[in-house]
Amino acid sequence: MSDVKIHRVKPEWKKNALIDNETYLKWYAESVKNPDKFWGKHGKRIDWFKPYTKVKNTSFTGKVSIKWFEDGLTNVSYNCIDRHLKKRGNQTAIIWEGDNPYDDRKVTYNELHEYVCRLANVLKKHGVKKGDRVTIYMPMIPEAAYAMLACTRIGAIHSVVFGGFSPDSLAGRIVDCKSTFVITADEGLRGGKPIPLKDNTDKAIEIAAKSKVKVDKVLVVRRTGSKTGWVEGRDVWYHDEVASVKPDCKPEKMKAEDPLFILYTSGSTGKPKGVLHTTGGYLVYVSMTHQYVFDYRDGDIYWCTADVGWVTGHSYIVYGPLANGATTLMFEGVPNYPSASRFWEVVDKHKVNIFYTAPTAIRALMGAGDSHVKKTSRKSLRVLGTVGEPINPEAWEWYFKVVGDKKVPIVDTWWQTETGGILITPLPGASDLKAGSATRPFFGVQPELVDNEGKVLEGTASGNLCITDSWPGMMRTVYGDHDRFVKTYFSTYKGKYFTGDGCRRDQDGYYWITGRVDDVINVSGHRMGTAEVESALVSHDKVSEAAVVGYPHDIKGQGIYCYVTLMAGEQWSDDLRKDLVAHVRKEIGAIASPDKIQFAPGLPKTRSGKIMRRILRKIAEDDFGALGDTSTLADPHVVDDLIANRQNKR
Ligand code: WT7
Repeated sequence: MSDVKIHRVKPEWKKNALIDNETYLKWYAESVKNPDKFWGKHGKRIDWFKPYTKVKNTSFTGKVSIKWFEDGLTNVSYNCIDRHLKKRGNQTAIIWEGDNPYDDRKVTYNELHEYVCRLANVLKKHGVKKGDRVTIYMPMIPEAAYAMLACTRIGAIHSVVFGGFSPDSLAGRIVDCKSTFVITADEGLRGGKPIPLKDNTDKAIEIAAKSKVKVDKVLVVRRTGSKTGWVEGRDVWYHDEVASVKPDCKPEKMKAEDPLFILYTSGSTGKPKGVLHTTGGYLVYVSMTHQYVFDYRDGDIYWCTADVGWVTGHSYIVYGPLANGATTLMFEGVPNYPSASRFWEVVDKHKVNIFYTAPTAIRALMGAGDSHVKKTSRKSLRVLGTVGEPINPEAWEWYFKVVGDKKVPIVDTWWQTETGGILITPLPGASDLKAGSATRPFFGVQPELVDNEGKVLEGTASGNLCITDSWPGMMRTVYGDHDRFVKTYFSTYKGKYFTGDGCRRDQDGYYWITGRVDDVINVSGHRMGTAEVESALVSHDKVSEAAVVGYPHDIKGQGIYCYVTLMAGEQWSDDLRKDLVAHVRKEIGAIASPDKIQFAPGLPKTRSGKIMRRILRKIAEDDFGALGDTSTLADPHVVDDLIANRQNKR
């Protein structure tokens, strides 16, 4: 791969950036040589009610224990709001851009303070206490951020559930963390289409009740004004509630290791895991990465297009930017509504300087044609970013040439829900860029590649990506199941955090993430456990068995390919196919919609009954010339049938 084009850091960037390459190398060396000293210094970027004296206390072996700044006291909402008020009370904290281009709103830091305090007081009034779990199921409106910040103000733990998830998925998450308070809206609005959030919440609460988790209160924000069900005594309107409480609420003094939020994410097995992040280390890490990765300056208008339902929204719409006193743009809509120019029109309208989105959006907009971009100015842009999945070099080059007019550096940021913040990334003034590479580790991050037996690979190599030591933003546990945390992340390769990603390191020490090596697929930047889709399929009464794999998809990155075996006596039909798609959407949500379903009278299994996914992946990729060894199969003939009826024939 020596013919990869290198985009060198431009001289003006070298000169003016917060971090140039010399600084990067120096700081990086310090950060791994003496993490206590390095993070002891940078931990002070946030305000502490009581300063920490201990910095790092972490172990990746045995029971695994991660503590940062453990004797310090702080508060996230204080850091994201109050400490800015003196200097920038009248500065815009949140620019809200509605689904409809004529709908927008600006919220200053003073206003943010009032709204968050009022909501915090509403939570208190209804008996929500420090440590309680609050579920937030909201559209992309500022009230979603108020809700998160209000929780942090009083020390409640939020669990934000993406608005695209089904009532079943919402219920599962409510039950897992025993959350008895839900904040939602009547409806969401995306691409002109309403999303029935309150109705979904009502259904979810019924489902949760069957598992003996009773939701006592539902706080409802009026977004569209549509009619929804209403349970007297349980449901209350946000606008009524906030009007009747005080506009001031003292921030709770939180220990650095007090839980901040739970965010559910799919793994390779079973139900989603509640990834738990804590207070101090998380905020230090996301604010620091937000500043240096995006070369963020005072006064910049910063826009991350993610949804607050994902970790990207937590760390880089809400917490990182607000901790830095930034103006953060929250977008309710979608990239192609009303037209494929929307992103760039919003960039021009609000003079966005830093723009952060997902490769799937870039690919979709690239497909819509350059004219949608070229008719806009985009001259405010200074940094472009991507996140969520590998970006193919063609899409990278298009982003660089057409969107950035070859002037704007791109930061391809690799990280995970579990990592809290960005781990491998270019810094715009320091890193020469190669299209498709996330380049080098951020300060304090020590990547390592290992082979399947755990042997450490040096130099130029391909292997499984591990991180050998702790950084302040990492997850602390799986909520309610520490054993699962240890087993999932620290047992495959003893004493190392295993990411689940495959990765290549080139001759310049640059990292190239190649995608998941476990049974997790990445569909439009959304992470999906194949096991979850399988269990949704087999919960259909006509399905006896299912196996799900990913296959390369031009826009989505990966598509969902399902092999389904029916109950004896059931007949395959197009109607059943449609029914199965609808069933999976109902069980999980639209993001899990199968792209291809193949009726499979038999699945390829070993004699011990294990499904050989390697073979299923190959067939789904239409690459069955390279099936490898099939001699261990119990019945090699099933493969011929699967090949003959494959759904991705080229
Ligand atoms: C998985 C994590 C991190 C926020 C959004 C996704 C993939 C993420 C990149 C990137 C290649 C990437 C990995 C990772 N991924 N960023 N820049 N290049 N792959 O968070 O849902 O927890 O998914 O997304 O496979 O493991 P997530």
